[in-house]
Amino acid sequence: MASSNESVYRATTTAPVNIAVIKYWGKRDTILNLPTNSSLSVTLSQRSLRTLTTASCSGNFPAEDTLNLNGKPQDIQSSKRTLACISSLRAHRKALEDADSSLPALSKFPLRIVSENNFPTAAGLASSAAGFAALVRAVADLYQLPQSPKELSRIARQGSGSACRSLMGGYVAWRTGELADGSDSLAEEVAPASHWPEMRALVLVVSAEKKDVPSTEGMQTTVGTSALFAERAQNVVPQRMAAIETAIRDRNFPDFAEITMRDSNTFHATCLDSWPPIFYMNDVSRAAVRLVHDINRVVGRTVAAYTFDAGPNAVIYYEDKDSELVAGTVKAILGPNTEGWDGAFYDRIANVTASGVS
Ligand code: DP6
Repeated sequence: MASSNESVYRATTTAPVNIAVIKYWGKRDTILNLPTNSSLSVTLSQRSLRTLTTASCSGNFPAEDTLNLNGKPQDIQSSKRTLACISSLRAHRKALEDADSSLPALSKFPLRIVSENNFPTAAGLASSAAGFAALVRAVADLYQLPQSPKELSRIARQGSGSACRSLMGGYVAWRTGELADGSDSLAEEVAPASHWPEMRALVLVVSAEKKDVPSTEGMQTTVGTSALFAERAQNVVPQRMAAIETAIRDRNFPDFAEITMRDSNTFHATCLDSWPPIFYMNDVSRAAVRLVHDINRVVGRTVAAYTFDAGPNAVIYYEDKDSELVAGTVKAILGPNTEGWDGAFYDRIANVTASGVS
């Protein structure tokens, strides 16, 4: 057998996108990436949106760690977030090696990470969430770390806040935590996807362009300049978190939907209240909002909910029994042939295992 120095060790994983229904917006600590409010998301299936990442290491690799994203080499040294994730993962591996001298010294080997999204990067489709979750999961698998997804979420959070929620499937809460060192700012599964198998999500790609204001920059402008922001973080979100967890527990779609739509609107209101104001939604996004309200009004019950991240793309939640009504109508009225849309595709809630593979 080749000596461990010459061997190439490798692990491959995929990670899903998650779409928040209670949005994370604002950091109380920008270095540790600690949020000002808790958030809750739904993990989407990996059939349409996922990041595929392979991490390898070898004593024979050139000295520096490398990262290749969608075929382009990235400068890891200038990305404090990537460095923070890698150094935490290495420290965990080092602890294993210190405890068991028979383990190969992978922590000393340079890492080679190759990552690919099957959807546009940085277009408000949560690419950083899937990206950092896949990076952390792949390196943790390579290093054979025993840490649970919840423990790994602490590491992924340092890459991108929303990434901590992509290590689990179903309905995932990221608790803001209270400790200054961030050790209690973790993601946890509120309910598995199997708890509410009728849930569906329709992703409408209004634009696959890179967003105008990246979320990290946008949220700190909001934190620093919006009076509405503090009200949302302190008084509005805690109640909504409790209410949406109850709605999920009871599979109460009308409550889930109303809280989701209201929180998307409040989040975008704080963006508009920022100085200078930040606009993520556009005319086509607003047409989707009107259409969902029209569908719910005409049907006479709440069958659809929209939500928008830091970009114009709409995600519409509905239950399978209302597919024709919701997805059919949205597709017919705002389908790929409509001016202003780049396209549309369906997705559904994921069932993600602990290894991050659905
Ligand atoms: C609007 O997780 O991309 O999608 O922590 O600075 O990387 P950083 O921000 P990021 O922000 C996501 C913001 C959001 C809401 C959400 O996903 O909760």
